[in-house]
Amino acid sequence: MPPEPLSDFQQQLLSWFAEHQRDLPWRQGYDPYGVWVSEVMLQQTQVKTVLPYYQRWMARLPRLQDLATIPESELMGLWEGLGYYSRVRNLQKAAQVVCEQHQGQVPDTVEALLKLPGVGRYTAGAIASIAYNKDAPLVDGNVIRVFCRLEAWEAPVNDRVQQEQIWSRAEATLPSGRAREFNQALMELGALVCTPQNPSCLLCPVQAHCAAHQQGRVHELPRPKPRQAPTEVEKAVALVQTEQGLLVRFRAEAKLMQGLWEVPTVEVPAEEDGPTVLEHWLRQELGGTWIVGPEEQRLTHRYTRFKATLHCYRVEPGAAVPLPEHWAWLTAETADAFALPTVFRKLVSTLF
Ligand code: ADE
Repeated sequence: MPPEPLSDFQQQLLSWFAEHQRDLPWRQGYDPYGVWVSEVMLQQTQVKTVLPYYQRWMARLPRLQDLATIPESELMGLWEGLGYYSRVRNLQKAAQVVCEQHQGQVPDTVEALLKLPGVGRYTAGAIASIAYNKDAPLVDGNVIRVFCRLEAWEAPVNDRVQQEQIWSRAEATLPSGRAREFNQALMELGALVCTPQNPSCLLCPVQAHCAAHQQGRVHELPRPKPRQAPTEVEKAVALVQTEQGLLVRFRAEAKLMQGLWEVPTVEVPAEEDGPTVLEHWLRQELGGTWIVGPEEQRLTHRYTRFKATLHCYRVEPGAAVPLPEHWAWLTAETADAFALPTVFRKLVSTLF
């Protein structure tokens, strides 16, 4: 069957994309593994931040098999600073599954992709459509914004019913056989023209189809999600510096930032005293005695739902202690070999 003729909307969007798309490394050849890595990096992170990470990653791990076999410590280093570290650990697990169960070939159907660790509806749609040009829709934050404005939809961006509506809309609007270009065109429009602030409606190829524009309400839509105040947590950080270096600990089992190193940190429950909690925790983890000195620095760090205040105390060991597994001394020379969350990388940079 010949393809359906394109609608005006599809035609205008595709022509715009052909002319204005950015020249991005994962768009060269659309290698499925490269598309996958780029899409995972681009979740929650902007293109300009991702670019150097992507280049470095591909230089070190050019093939899926390289990702499946790289030691975790080195892998975390390639991701350091991108945040949401479960993304990279899932990516490696998924690469291992692809090697074991799919002969190293990234699956090309949404159904098979969804079975891989860390691959949700968006990533499955992105790989199927962008890498393989399969007729699979996708919806990310850019696509939500574009459709909410085109349709002048009122519900907040995170409303479940509305999100389903947007998935249906993305599927219904997809021109058969053109998913690679069309899905990227929607996202590119959201990134370059239909931006959250100060959208460039005068340059928009689909302005004539935009209900929000016709109603003069582009700036009101999409409605932001109702904000939940972040939970505030207090933490105590031990700055233990000896001639061997700075004491650090590997986050082997952690909900957040698992697989990275940290300057030893313990949560301080409300109503409790930071130095006391810290001293007790160090004694429990490492034995020996610990003298907790004054607070030397205070840092704040925001996670998705938390706001942490890190009280950093200078701590002197009472006597030399042998370090158990997962603890180490970091020095100026070895600092780069430890993958550290951004907040600790900054802290470490003030100490050497
Ligand atoms: N954001 C996430 N993935 C993208 C892509 N492939 N093109 C444009 N923007 C994106």
